Amino acid sequence: MIGPYEIHGHAIVSGDERIADSQARMPRVLRFPADQTQFNAAMDRARVVVLGRVGHLNHPDERRTRLVVSSAPAGLERRAEAWWWNPAGVGVLEALTAAAPGGGLVVVAGGKRVFDQFLDLGYDEFHLARAPHVTLPGGVACFSECDRGKTADEVLRGRGMIAGPAEVLDPANEVTLTIFRAPR
Ligand SMILES: NC(=O)c1ccc[n+]([C@@H]2O[C@H](COP(=O)([O-])OP(=O)(O)OC[C@H]3O[C@@H](n4cnc5c(N)ncnc54)[C@H](OP(=O)(O)O)[C@@H]3O)[C@@H](O)[C@H]2O)c1
Repeated sequence: MIGPYEIHGHAIVSGDERIADSQARMPRVLRFPADQTQFNAAMDRARVVVLGRVGHLNHPDERRTRLVVSSAPAGLERRAEAWWWNPAGVGVLEALTAAAPGGGLVVVAGGKRVFDQFLDLGYDEFHLARAPHVTLPGGVACFSECDRGKTADEVLRGRGMIAGPAEVLDPANEVTLTIFRAPR
């Protein structure tokens, strides 16, 4: 928890621990309807979705409340389509309170630096989908530690998180979803 906020990360990774291709785009091969359905449902439950500037601009969504991480604003800025936040200028609790007063569920939707940032702040849950037969050479890793040879699972376990059972989302492609939880 960060104050009254419950923090859930959500990612789908390729077999080589990537969240995007070498152009920092989410490729078609990493899109699976069952995964998109669960991710959209989580975002619908969230008070606010936190994501990096690139993902925000690549995937506009004015229906949900977003907190966009970027070095562009000095601190916090209310723009027409979203809240923009520079963590160098404003703390996380202040930013969440501005975007979603009163607390509730926060979905952290990446990319790599944002996933890293909340790894240090602490996830309550991390919903990790995996498409084991997809590879994205030169793509964007889920966490920086994946660039140094760790799997996303190892990174989360290394922070003391405990994996639940793997749920099969897409049997034909062997896509699974594992929820990692912080110890209580
Ligand atoms: N497979 C998945 O689950 C998944 C998840 C997330 C994203 N994606 C895909 O991955 C791609 C983008 O990922 P990405 O990692 O390359 O980019 P990203 O996180 O979407 O955006 C990177 C930008 O976020 C800003 N940023 C992040 N952390 C910051 C910090 N601590 N302080 C200041 N600014 C910060 C910077 O913006 P400024 O340059 O403005 O400073 C940085 O250039 C997208 O195509 C998206 O669709 C996939």
